[in-house]
Parts: sequence; structure tokens; C-alpha cells
Amino acid sequence: MSQKYNAALGAYELISKNNGPIVLGIGTGSTTDFFTKEFLPKLREKLNGIYSSSDKTTNLLKNLGFRVHDYSPEAVIDIYVDGADEVDKNFNLIKGGGGAHTNEKRLAKIADHFICIVDESKIVQTLGNFPLPIEIDVHQSDQALSELKKYAKNITKRESLSDNKNFLYDLHKLKILEPLKIENQILMINGVVDVGIFAIDKPQTVIIGGDSSYKLMES
Ligand code: 5RP
Repeated sequence: MSQKYNAALGAYELISKNNGPIVLGIGTGSTTDFFTKEFLPKLREKLNGIYSSSDKTTNLLKNLGFRVHDYSPEAVIDIYVDGADEVDKNFNLIKGGGGAHTNEKRLAKIADHFICIVDESKIVQTLGNFPLPIEIDVHQSDQALSELKKYAKNITKRESLSDNKNFLYDLHKLKILEPLKIENQILMINGVVDVGIFAIDKPQTVIIGGDSSYKLMES
């Protein structure tokens, strides 16, 4: 089985130990899709609700016969399961390769426990080799971009809008030595809806899928 599959298996085995009922938040991406397709149906009896981080994940969940709750800031989520584009040794993440980081972060923020599932290629010494995704309000993009140029010379715009109908940009070749500080600084910029650094709302458990099994790291 693939490393992504094994990471998803790790999340399943960890969640299986919980007696339930559990409310889950489900992230976006190919690793999370393994969890949703292969393992979530086996947890059906334990589930007391599901929140989704994107339109894509919602469609997948509905196709599998799950009911998806509408997000509300008062929602209670026991466990949030999601992948990542990069993970450093302190469990800081870059997310948003799939453009869903804003809605992913709001689920991670309210969840009691965040399980991050990744293959070995996602583990890095320093965040920033993966282009950093930023969601920007379509009405304030010029202002935000002139501020963001202080962080990266090369900024590219994605063709598609986010699920929230905002622009998605990627900042290339950053060396993010202080993820928490950079996350906070970028969040202060007018027009920035959210940035793909997860240093404030980072996972408590990272499951790294290997070729034949997985490794669990807890903070
Ligand atoms: C989507 C994400 C994904 O979790 C991230 O891009 C990893 O994706 P994959 O599991 O396909 O490698 O943040 O916004």
C-alpha cells in the first residue's frame, strides 16, 4: 500500500480506540481522501457528526452516504483529520496546496484534537520550499500584494478562486524560520483572508506513512 494509505490507516487505528460518539472534521487532499474512502465507512457506528473543510470533500462525503453539518463557529469537533504539504519537527505546517487552507484552519481551530496524516516526503527541516498559499479578498488584492512582496519576490496567482470566492496566491522560495511569527504577521495584512502556515492551530499528532507501516509522533 502507498505511504498516503498507511498514514490514513494510522489515523483510523488511532480513532478506533475512541469509544465514541465522535464528531469528526475532515480535511482536503489525496491523503485525507484515502482516510475518507477507505476508513471512514468503518467508523460509521461511532460517528455523531461530520464537518467538511471544502466543497470537494463535502461531495466525496455525500457520495459515500454521509451527512455533512454546516460549519458554525459554535460547532464542537472532537477530532480533525487532514493532510499537509510540509511538516517541520515542531509540527508547524504548510497547508493549502489544494487551496482549502482557510476553511481547513477554521476546523482545526475548533477541534479538540488535530491528527495530521502525511507521507514521508512532507517532513522538512524548515518550512517554505513548498509555495506558501495565501487566500486574499478579491477587493483588496493590490494592497495585500504590495505588502506580501516584502516576503517573496516570486508570487503567482492561481486560476481558480477558493471555495469562499477569494483569490489564491502562492509565495515562492521562502525560508520560514519562525512560522508562528510569520503566520501572525501575514494575518495582519489587510486583505489577507488566511495563510497556509499552521503554527497557531497546529496538530497534536502527526502520522507519517511509510512503505509498509506508519510512525506516530505526538506533541
Ligand atoms: C489542501 C491541503 C492538503 O492537505 C495538502 O495539499 C496535502 O495534500 P495531499 O494529501 O494531496 O498531498 O492542505 O488545501
